[in-house]
Amino acid sequence: MAPWFTGLTAVSASLANLVPGLGRGLNQTTTSKVRANLLQAANASWELGTATEALLELSYPSLSVFNASAFPPHARLAAPAAPTDVLRIATTVVTEKPTDSLPLLPNDGSAADPASIGVAVLVANWTRTNLSDHQYADAASGQLQYLLDVVPRSPEGAISHRNSEVQLWADFVYMVPPFIAYYGSLQGGQAGMTNLQAAYDQCRLYRDALRDDSGLWRHITLGSFTDDSHWATGNAWAAAGMLRVLSTMNHTSAGKQFIGQQANLTEWINEILVASWEHQNDDGSLMNVVDDSTSFVDMSATALLASVTYRMAVFQKNTSLIEPAIRALGAITQHVDADGWLFNTTDPITFHTPLAPGQHSPEGQAFVLLLQSAWQAFSQFVTKKNT
Ligand SMILES: *[C@@H]1O[C@H](CO)[C@@H](O)[C@H](O)[C@H]1NC(C)=O
Ligand SMILES: *[C@@H]1O[C@H](CO)[C@@H](O)[C@H](O)[C@H]1NC(C)=O
Ligand SMILES: *[C@@H]1O[C@H](CO)[C@@H](O)[C@H](O)[C@H]1NC(C)=O
Ligand SMILES: *[C@@H]1O[C@H](CO)[C@@H](O)[C@H](O)[C@H]1NC(C)=O
Ligand SMILES: *[C@@H]1O[C@H](CO)[C@@H](O)[C@H](O)[C@H]1NC(C)=O
Ligand SMILES: *[C@@H]1O[C@H](CO)[C@@H](O)[C@H](O)[C@H]1NC(C)=O
Ligand SMILES: *[C@@H]1O[C@H](CO)[C@@H](O)[C@H](O)[C@H]1NC(C)=O
Ligand SMILES: *[C@@H]1O[C@H](CO)[C@@H](O)[C@H](O)[C@H]1NC(C)=O
Ligand SMILES: *[C@@H]1O[C@H](CO)[C@@H](O)[C@H](O)[C@H]1NC(C)=O
Repeated sequence: MAPWFTGLTAVSASLANLVPGLGRGLNQTTTSKVRANLLQAANASWELGTATEALLELSYPSLSVFNASAFPPHARLAAPAAPTDVLRIATTVVTEKPTDSLPLLPNDGSAADPASIGVAVLVANWTRTNLSDHQYADAASGQLQYLLDVVPRSPEGAISHRNSEVQLWADFVYMVPPFIAYYGSLQGGQAGMTNLQAAYDQCRLYRDALRDDSGLWRHITLGSFTDDSHWATGNAWAAAGMLRVLSTMNHTSAGKQFIGQQANLTEWINEILVASWEHQNDDGSLMNVVDDSTSFVDMSATALLASVTYRMAVFQKNTSLIEPAIRALGAITQHVDADGWLFNTTDPITFHTPLAPGQHSPEGQAFVLLLQSAWQAFSQFVTKKNT
């Protein structure tokens, strides 16, 4: 038995004794409700993109970037392997897209958010049954071209999060680099390598612009306004986005040529995780501004950061942060109501006010599913190790 696993058993056992139910995910009934609510609530570009990734990870894990078998997706998937609800979102977006729009959704103030749907569009292309149908491939390549050739950049080369001016948001790291990396991975060859490198470079440039000495990232820099706070969701977007790029590179045939980049991404993700969990509340939650105890509890960022922590434990075979992840999972299970809504979440539009009772965060619903699937992958991994 590997030493890291021995350590894990001790940690889980002592935590399980401390709080019954801790270290266990949601049951299937609750998970289904959370999933149905997500599909009902997701509407904005980034909510749809995040929903498709959460659905792939939860319900079609053989197509998720965390599974080497997803590169490339198997052609002509028949039900139930076909990711029906993911394809429905991709098809709706591509069908409704005006032909003259390069981005997947036209007139989104964000240059970045529509790209989050790009992975689902690429899955739709690779799994399509009508091989004469090029609308998904064309839509995906238009979205890529828009990011690389049209959107304004900072002097260092960071692609702007906004269309109207150069402004860098931590959120970008989840919206754009994972799409560029996935595109490059499926593309292969020299052009694919160039895109994999571009995905990495955008993570690096965003970190250079937003990271503080504490290891936490500020939310927004440059442009007509800034948000210097260490917004928990911004840190979670950044860590989760870099994780998707890392996993995509790692599962690509060209992965061995990106070992240094993978090492840096690993370090940069760990840096956010370590700095964030340092501020974890006793009940397992994180504050909306990670290092500001006068802000309010935000269960949505707590869920996304916990999901990254579980995934990184598997990727690195390193459970040094598993205790905070288990504690966060325990808090999440106590913050999903009987109808399957996550509560005590931040307002994704204002960033700095809590949603009132009865209001729901679509992205928070997706984060719960990302956490549930990351916890399941971790549990399977531990079980496998133990047998
Ligand atoms: C699932 O979990 C919820 C919330 O803890 C609980 O109310 C419900 O009874 C559980 N359902 C099943 C089938 O175990
Ligand atoms: C969904 O988004 C579209 C455009 O992005 C918007 O016009 C519409 O009002 C939104 N619907 C809801 C229910 O928010
Ligand atoms: C990865 O995908 C294969 C099938 O392609 C499946 O058998 C396996 O269970 C998947 N692994 C995970 C962790 O989902
Ligand atoms: C679309 O799928 C086909 C395989 O059916 C593949 O050859 C092509 O490269 C894909 N396009 C993109 C942009 O990934
Ligand atoms: C396949 O796609 C092509 C191009 O969009 C279209 O002309 C054709 O009607 C489609 N075939 C079927 C069977 O849907
Ligand atoms: C994937 O990541 C693991 C862990 O860092 C590393 O040992 C392995 O070499 C990587 N594989 C590829 C193909 O990049
Ligand atoms: C990794 O980061 C270090 C320190 O910032 C840098 O010197 C190195 O060039 C990076 N490696 C790659 C492959 O980009
Ligand atoms: C294990 O992970 C922690 C935090 O994620 C990191 O600081 C540490 O360097 C890792 N240890 C090894 C041996 O990789
Ligand atoms: C958490 O949510 C519950 C239910 O909506 C609400 O009653 C409570 O005031 C919230 N707590 C905080 C700290 O916002």
